[in-house]
Amino acid sequence: MKVEPAVSLRGDVAVPGDKSVSHRALLLAAIADGESEIRGFGRSADTLSTVAAIASLGASVSDEGDTIRVAGAGLRGLRAPAGPIDCGNAGTLIRLLSGILAGQDGRFELVGDESLSHRPLERIAAPLRLMGASVETVDGHAPLAVCGGKLRPIRYESPVASAQVKSCVLLAGLYAAGGPTTVVEPAPSRDHTERMLAGAGARVERRPPVATVWPAERLSPLSLDVPGDFSSAAPFLAAATLLPGSELRLHGVGLNPTRTGFLHVLERMGARISVYNRRQAGGEPVADLEITSAELVATEVAPAEVPLLIDELPLFALCAALAHGDSGVRGAQELRVKESDRVESVTRALRAAGVRISDTADGFRIRGVPARLRGGVVVDAAGDHRIAMLGALAGLLSREPIEVRGADCVAVSYPGFFDVLGSLVVR
Ligand code: S3P
Repeated sequence: MKVEPAVSLRGDVAVPGDKSVSHRALLLAAIADGESEIRGFGRSADTLSTVAAIASLGASVSDEGDTIRVAGAGLRGLRAPAGPIDCGNAGTLIRLLSGILAGQDGRFELVGDESLSHRPLERIAAPLRLMGASVETVDGHAPLAVCGGKLRPIRYESPVASAQVKSCVLLAGLYAAGGPTTVVEPAPSRDHTERMLAGAGARVERRPPVATVWPAERLSPLSLDVPGDFSSAAPFLAAATLLPGSELRLHGVGLNPTRTGFLHVLERMGARISVYNRRQAGGEPVADLEITSAELVATEVAPAEVPLLIDELPLFALCAALAHGDSGVRGAQELRVKESDRVESVTRALRAAGVRISDTADGFRIRGVPARLRGGVVVDAAGDHRIAMLGALAGLLSREPIEVRGADCVAVSYPGFFDVLGSLVVR
């Protein structure tokens, strides 16, 4: 995909439904008693892996486009399919589903694509074993086998601030008879699971960085409107801020405070973003955003902020590259175990485009130069949807076009990304 330089971005966008919320809604619907309705479903390769997974486990799914209906199998009603469950590229699926399967009868095998098979699973296997499940990995990686059984509650001090680890343990906690299961994180991560569990009638307590769930008898079916995905809105926030003369409105964007670190970091750098029409959808705060372009100044992203913008750090690096002054990110070693090693892939992609960026063990240092990037190069997406989007934005902001190799992987989270971006570009 060749991305030509742009003058500005103008128009209106409604981004797809939130990926994290869509995965969770499908998983909880699969173990609820009765029929759930998920409206504004964020259809992507990742969430379709979850649709297929819950169907193979015995939930009955009716896919009506924007709306998905799921007849739940009940809290303990999932059954092992004949073959392995294919989690595709989706870390959220393999980790959250493992927590649920730990409470079911049977042996379940979970596999993933090449990238997912390199991502760490010991971080969920260890707490699930402490709860009494049998979990086998291949050197800490997929394929993963979970043998469900009787679980006991734990208080788990997670070594990583990861919503996937926290959610896995809390979901297993629904099955842990005898008392509450608690997860303590080094810093608060996204809390969609806690919110949705409460909405389904489970007893949950949230005191970040501590979350607790009590064992449940049943979950109520869901009826929810999925908010727009902040992480899919983020590339537009960045591009409209950086391209002079831009004016963009983003409608129905989820603004859960555990997800909006990038918004606050951009504002601190001088971005001009108005938030209006605040409302609630699916137990989550939602609003419309209006972005006009602005000159940015450098900033530092501190370790405690990292979980709040973990998936937007590649975009932060690009914004920092075009800001006045030197910026940096510390405490982001988790980036190394995402869909690609994003410390490495961001550094490589931006350096190719002409940015002065260096990688550190746990982040980046970036020298800001408020001028167009050089461009005229090939950026390899490395099979990572967020790097493909980063390459596309670098192309818009360059003097010469950028060829994004392997751009199709945007379908992992946002299949229509290039069409929507193209419809907003002023050249
Ligand atoms: C996600 C949590 C984050 C994030 C991922 C989605 C989730 O991962 O990077 O894209 O849906 O819970 P970690 O929880 O492992 O940091």
